[in-house]
Amino acid sequence: MERKDFIKTCGFACLGGLFVTSVLEGCSGSKVIAGTIDHSDLVVPLNAFQHNKTAYLKYLVVGHDSLKYPVCVYRFSETEYTALLMRCTHQGAELQVFGDRLECPAHGSQFSDTGQVKNGPADVNLRAFPVTVVNNQIRISLK
Ligand code: FES
Repeated sequence: MERKDFIKTCGFACLGGLFVTSVLEGCSGSKVIAGTIDHSDLVVPLNAFQHNKTAYLKYLVVGHDSLKYPVCVYRFSETEYTALLMRCTHQGAELQVFGDRLECPAHGSQFSDTGQVKNGPADVNLRAFPVTVVNNQIRISLK
């Protein structure tokens, strides 16, 4: 391949990659953010779920330096959320989120958006934390 053809091919490949990335981000319905710790609560601003003026994200992955695993927070309504520790109950691998389910990259266990085991080998539901909504904040009790 000549240099000119190589550059042309790489250019189109980069443009294609940018397009795919922007499409995936546009329909992912999620984002990763850093929460803050207040006493024993992991705190997330309520507006972090705001996708645009009328749409909300389905879930957020919330991390903090003091946490070994992130917490996945699903939004079901303005007042209903679940907060799930993203630690597989089989052997402790960190889970990945795919829309309304979490999957383990180690051996394939799957969990629902409420933390219920859907497929093994895990046979214990995910750890779920109590969630309260106070003063435009989502407070996840880590006790
Ligand atoms: S560690 Fe998750 S399925 Fe084994």
